[in-house]
Formats: sequence, structure tokens, C-alpha cells
Amino acid sequence: MQNQKLWGGRFRGKTSATVEAFTASIAWDQRLAPYDIQGSLAHAQMLQRQGLLKVSEARKIVQGLKAIRKEIDAGRFPFREECEDIHMNIEARLFEKIGAVAGKLHMGRSRNDQVALDLRLYVRDRTIQIAQSLFQIRERLINRAVKETETVLPGYTHLQRAQPVVLAHYLLAYESMLTRDTQRLLDSLARVQVSPLGSGALAGTSLPLDRKEVARSLGFPWITSNSLDAVSDRDFVVEFLSALSLIAVHLSRWAEEWILWNTTEFGFVDFPDAFCTGSSMMPQKKNPDVLELIRGKSGRVFGNLMALLTLLKGLPLSYNRDLQEDKEPLFDAADTVSACLDLMEQAIRLARFHREAMRKAAEDPMLLATDLAESLVKKGIAFRKAHEIVGKIVAESIRSQRPLNQWSASEFKRFSSAFGNSISKILRSEASVRSRNISGGTAPAQVRRALVEARGVLHQQEIQLKRLSKRR
Ligand code: ARG
Repeated sequence: MQNQKLWGGRFRGKTSATVEAFTASIAWDQRLAPYDIQGSLAHAQMLQRQGLLKVSEARKIVQGLKAIRKEIDAGRFPFREECEDIHMNIEARLFEKIGAVAGKLHMGRSRNDQVALDLRLYVRDRTIQIAQSLFQIRERLINRAVKETETVLPGYTHLQRAQPVVLAHYLLAYESMLTRDTQRLLDSLARVQVSPLGSGALAGTSLPLDRKEVARSLGFPWITSNSLDAVSDRDFVVEFLSALSLIAVHLSRWAEEWILWNTTEFGFVDFPDAFCTGSSMMPQKKNPDVLELIRGKSGRVFGNLMALLTLLKGLPLSYNRDLQEDKEPLFDAADTVSACLDLMEQAIRLARFHREAMRKAAEDPMLLATDLAESLVKKGIAFRKAHEIVGKIVAESIRSQRPLNQWSASEFKRFSSAFGNSISKILRSEASVRSRNISGGTAPAQVRRALVEARGVLHQQEIQLKRLSKRR
């Protein structure tokens, strides 16, 4: 078996060494081994039920596959480049273990529908695993946010101080992004858990396979509807990589924010030594390299998505060997994002927030200009007019170098008689935050409500994931 290819019949000459090396994918697709065996077991058992395999034959095949699984788990499996890919490596090994009956396993099946199934099983597992990491990190965010519903800091637009917000609101903003990411993954399972087995090489098979039975035994609720499409469809990989890309975008934004917050200029957060690295030259440096790498690694995730899209574009039906190139980008993106999630989970666990620095930064009375304008609106002044009045006040404050919280009520009244006597109450960041008591807003009361809601959604999604993946 070792020197004879599975397509040996048609060939007289030997494959050249360079072709063998160039076409082999075993170096990386060996990661699909557990899924390949899972698919073969389901296929073999169905073949027996359909009377295509004798009970004794099926038993031999199943035992052989299980023995191979043990070898692989123990790291004892002899992966061979001349067997090209994981499918032929396992089949060749099955011949060695159980003899000629191994040749019956592949009836009604092609590597084309086989690899499509393996990939779907793999993507399902990684989808579930990454969704679970997202649950964990969101739980951490929520738990930390609970303690920061009164911690005031500046919110920014254009990276300019804009209005005061509470830290919990910030943390829940990331949590919101990750909630969408989780839902995207959950939704995608409807298009992942579809069994292509029975599509054969491209046109189906004349053998009486029970496609639904195979799907059922793999925990896939659906079967594909067109064999030509089924063997060449990698949309579910693109979808997965695009979901991963958005996660990478969100982690990258979050990392960037905390890198800024970690600067001396901001001083809002720092991390224990264990989470940082130093400089080989500058003795004083303690750098947030982990966060920088999370920001940086997003690039390779997008690159992998682009590689996949480019690979698929222009492929005629049905299977083409180009598709073998789908695996490395898929594996790399999944590994990269799950590592980033693990490290970000540590970041949120280890971050030390500097509440005093945040409070000081939020004290800047300029951040309360909108509050002043809205106080005039409450007195019946049109917002555009109020905006102009407060604009002039701000200009005067800058010109005279006198912060607004040092102004007397009568000074404000020079700009508009509508200003009341209690401006000093408005000009406090805590009051400002409290006043933005609208759903989705930053008032501590709203944020506490949002926290309860976030926990509820998290719990719902956990139930949804369990239901979607229960028959794995
Ligand atoms: N290693 C191949 C892949 O990953 C398996 C399918 C090969 N099919 C074929 N007809 N050569 O796509």
C-alpha cells in the first residue's frame, strides 16, 4: 500500500517527487484527523445499515478506525507525505491494519465530499470554542463593570475629550461588540451544520446511501441540496473568517484604547509585570506588548479572509484542487483569534484602573458645555441658539483663561437671562453623568440596568449554543 496510490489503476508511472511534495497537504491537514475519522465512522455505520457492508465488515472497519484514532491521539501515527493528505493517510493505514476490507469504506464517497465534511466538522468545533471564549471574556467585562458604575472619566470623540461617562459604560461598549460577534457565530451554525456526504465527487452516487442518517449521526440537522455546489462550497469558511475578522477588529480597537490609556499622558490603566515586557535598551520601559500584538494580529486574520475570497473567486464548478489551499488560512485565523481572546481575557482580569486619574481628567468643565446648552433648552431656548450661546461662553472662558466652574451665576446670565442660579450643580461631572438617564445612556442607573440585561443576553446565548450543538 505504501508505494501504491489509491488511484493506482489508471497510472503506469510513479508520481514525481517534486509533484508529490508540491501537492501534499498532510503537513497541515493532519489537524483534520479526528473529524475525518468521525465522518468515516458515520459513513461506515450507515453503509452497514443500508446493507452495503456486512456486519462483520463494518465491525472491522470501525475497529480499525478507532485503533487509528488511538494512534493519532498518542502521537504514534506515521503521517506519510507520499499519501498526500489526511484522507489517504488514514485509508492507507486502515489497509495496513485490517487488510482488503478497508477498500469498502470509500464506496459512495469521494475525497471531495469527505474533505467538505471534515471542514464543516472542524468549523463547527472552532465556532463553538470561540463562542465559549467570548462568553468568558464578556462575563469578566460584566463583573468588572459592576464595580465601576460610578467611576467617571472623559468619553472621547475624535480622540478629543467630549463628555463625561462612567467606566462601566466603556466596558459594556466592548461587551456589546462581543455580544454581536457571539450572535454572528451562533447564526452561522445553521449554514455550517449541513452534511455534504453523499455528494460523491460531484454528481452523487448510484449506491443507496442514507444521507439524512449520516447527517443525523453527526449531529447535523441538514443535508446539502446540490452535489455540485456541496463539494465546492466554502462559504461557511468565508463566513467564519469574516466573523473572526470582526472579532479581531473589536479586540484591536479595545487593545488600542488601552494602549493609549496605559501611556503616561492618560494614566488610566496599568498592568502587573507578568503581563508586560521590557526594553532591551531603555531600563525604564514597561511596555503593553500583549495589547500591541492583539492589535497587530488582526492584520493576519483579515489577510486570511482575503486569501479565502481570492481563492474562491473564479472557480468553475465543482471541486478544484485550489480548494486545498483553504486550510492554512482557516487554521491560522482560528488559532490567532482564540489566542487573542485568551490574552484579552487576562487583560481584563489583570487591568488596574486608576480611578483618580480618570476623575481628574473628567473634571475639565469644558466637558460640560453640552449640559449647559441642554439646561437652556429645558428653559425653552432652541437648541441651535443654546449651542451658539454656550459656544460664546466657551470662547470667553478660553480667552480669559477662567474655567467655567469658577464663573458666578451672574456671569453666565450676561450671556443668557435663561440661566438659573443653580449652574454650579450642572457643572459637575457626576451630575452630568447622572442626568444622561436615557436607555443606552451613561447614567449609573441606566448602566446598572444594562448590566442586568447583558447578563440576561449572555445567559440566553449560552442556552442557544447548547441547543445548537447538543448532538455533537
Ligand atoms: N486534500 C484535498 C483537499 O484538501 C482533498 C480532496 C482532493 N480531491 C481530489 N480530487 N484531488 O482539497
